[in-house]
Amino acid sequence: MPATVQSVVTIAREGEIAVVTVDNPPVNALGQALRQGLWDAAVALDADPAVRAVVLICAGRTFIAGADVREFGKPPMEPHLPDLVNRIEAAAKPWVAAIHGSALGGGYEMALGCRFRVALDSASVGLPEVSLGIVPGASGTVRTPRLAGVAAAVDLVTGGKPVKAAKARALGLVDAVVSGDLRAEAIAFARDALTKPLPLPISQRPVSAPEPGFWAEQETAITKRAKGEAAPLRALACIRKAVEAPFFDALAFERETFLSLRGSDQAAALRAVFFAERAAPRPVHLGDVRPLPLAKAGVIGGGTMGAGIAAALLDAGLPVVLVERDAEAVARGLANLGAIFEGGVKRGKLTEAQAAAHMAGVTGTTDYAALHDADLVIEAVFEEIGVKRAVFAQLAAACRSDAVLATNTSYLDPRLIVGGLANPARFIGLHFFSPANVMKLLEIVPVPETAPETLATGFALARALNKIPVEAGICEGFIGNRILKRYRAAAEALVRGGTTIAAIDAAMRGYGFAMGPFEAQDLGGLDIAFLQREGARAAGQAVPETLGDILVRAGRKGQKTGGGWYDYAPGARAPLPSTGVAALLAPHVTPGAAAMEGAAIADHLVAEMAAEGRTILAEGIARHPSDIDLVEIHGYGFPRWRGGPMHATARRG
Ligand code: 3HC
Ligand code: NAI
Repeated sequence: MPATVQSVVTIAREGEIAVVTVDNPPVNALGQALRQGLWDAAVALDADPAVRAVVLICAGRTFIAGADVREFGKPPMEPHLPDLVNRIEAAAKPWVAAIHGSALGGGYEMALGCRFRVALDSASVGLPEVSLGIVPGASGTVRTPRLAGVAAAVDLVTGGKPVKAAKARALGLVDAVVSGDLRAEAIAFARDALTKPLPLPISQRPVSAPEPGFWAEQETAITKRAKGEAAPLRALACIRKAVEAPFFDALAFERETFLSLRGSDQAAALRAVFFAERAAPRPVHLGDVRPLPLAKAGVIGGGTMGAGIAAALLDAGLPVVLVERDAEAVARGLANLGAIFEGGVKRGKLTEAQAAAHMAGVTGTTDYAALHDADLVIEAVFEEIGVKRAVFAQLAAACRSDAVLATNTSYLDPRLIVGGLANPARFIGLHFFSPANVMKLLEIVPVPETAPETLATGFALARALNKIPVEAGICEGFIGNRILKRYRAAAEALVRGGTTIAAIDAAMRGYGFAMGPFEAQDLGGLDIAFLQREGARAAGQAVPETLGDILVRAGRKGQKTGGGWYDYAPGARAPLPSTGVAALLAPHVTPGAAAMEGAAIADHLVAEMAAEGRTILAEGIARHPSDIDLVEIHGYGFPRWRGGPMHATARRG
């Protein structure tokens, strides 16, 4: 037998155990060559009388991470994955999957074809297909309930979230969890397994039906959660079929569902987002520019944003010096930070010990001298140019000359903040979103003098904090807030034309947003944008009066004042259409002028966002349409499965 069946699959021997190693960087995705290589290996090993069991293991950072998503736009090529999984299961010798990193999608399905699954303690397994708008297409919905029961299968498949090895073991998704040398452990496991009767292949195991009412309950819960996303419900239907029909019928049903969803708009959108998210942290135009080292950070201001940014830095293991105005503000900033970590403990995201360790990493002070050895300092003080300029003058005096200095300004021109400072090459805008330790988006805003290394450091920071970075040029509101402004103005224009506020919010929820534009303003407060407009007016800019201005002047700043665009019953959050608002706005509304209904409203508003996006691209404020989509998805709640405003409108033509 040749040692190499295909270059991506090699076979080695440990006595009577064959070790099949997959090496298909970066993530061992199951492209055609790998499928063929594994098929050939199965055939060759079946024919080899010296082999009694097979260990399937992967080189590189992970076990097989799934089907090759890049093949999804193309006609399927043989051998098809479900056939390969069946072939491995039908092999004359038992196969043992040795899992490190992530066994995801088709990767976990390959493991389901094996007779046993052994996982390294750091590994995870999962069926994340729904996050790509599809269902598992190689028996994930059919074999998983036979292996781990219906409830676990429904969680794994319809939620799409991978589970860590220990939990996978508890659920029965893997047979053993090992530490240390996975290859040696898996070989030992295989030898031991040969001394006992083999379990049935999964396809031959029974599956028990759930309690009556289970399917209806799941359908209701999933419909609510999915907010218009099709794949989770279709995945549930596949699992139900697996319980109610013979194995091969269910397999055919799953494959049919997989293939029909694979060509859907939702899957195309989710795939585009998948690749955009992976491209974003390493922009091509930065080439191999090396980022500066990041070992210690400073944050100026411990308010909403400063505390959130400090929490994100501490979460990533960077020690932080938090500088505030006076001792009282230092205490308040540290308390804000403490509250964030306590929240993390309450929600089960952090242990008490981790929260304490994070807090031990922060030093609160009023003394800029404590920043002398910081590699990066992020300013998050009041949104006032004078205050910010004074802070940067102090930073320039206190920090190393090569320390990166960043501002979190939302609307000020970063060139004015840094103007006159020595060494502006190390200056950059880093626009986080609130809550900064949660929101994934980071707008990175270079000034003309920003050095490539400084820009690269911004991207390196995003990678360290597990954020989605998008480079933005300088304009009012950068990418995200500029589109938000257009969106809100377009929504107000509809109201002026006679469309009701409630109809607009309902339409945007129907489109997939968690909230419509008016509900969202009521939650966040109308006064912030109002004050910003007032500031611009005071500075002599011609800012037309908005409907929001009229409401704020009438004391309606949102939920916090008991009303904004809607009324709220005391202590309640449910928006109630307001006769007061109708009366206030009546002089500005021309009924019937631009009344729209239902989906047409959402299409119109998304088209407005995209139109602003195109202007932003034309001005060079954003580099790629997909950057705009990432901003909207990760900063503004645009439904991921629509792909973002640029993708959605391009798709509609
Ligand atoms: N197909 C093709 N390329 C893939 C891929 C896949 N399934 N998964 C990852 N990649 C590529 C990425 O695009 C990236 O490429 P680049 O270097 O050119 O930008 C590279 O692999 C590395 O990816 P990450 O940056 O995400 O690497 P990490 O180490 O951070 O994460 C991972 C590794 C956890 C495996 C992560 O890549 C991941 O979650 N991948 C997706 C897994 C997935 O969704 N699998 C299901 C696919 S659908 C399926 O299997 C259908 C089946 O049921 C028939
Ligand atoms: P905030 O008012 O909650 O916090 C500002 C903090 O800065 C206060 O704790 C204050 O004591 C401190 N501060 C003021 N002057 C200081 C000085 N000279 N030295 C040290 N500390 C000083 O404000 P918030 O919301 O955190 O905003 C901060 C910045 O972040 C602003 O530029 C804002 O535009 C921007 N931003 C805000 C977002 C939000 O949603 N709140 C989102 C993204 C950016």
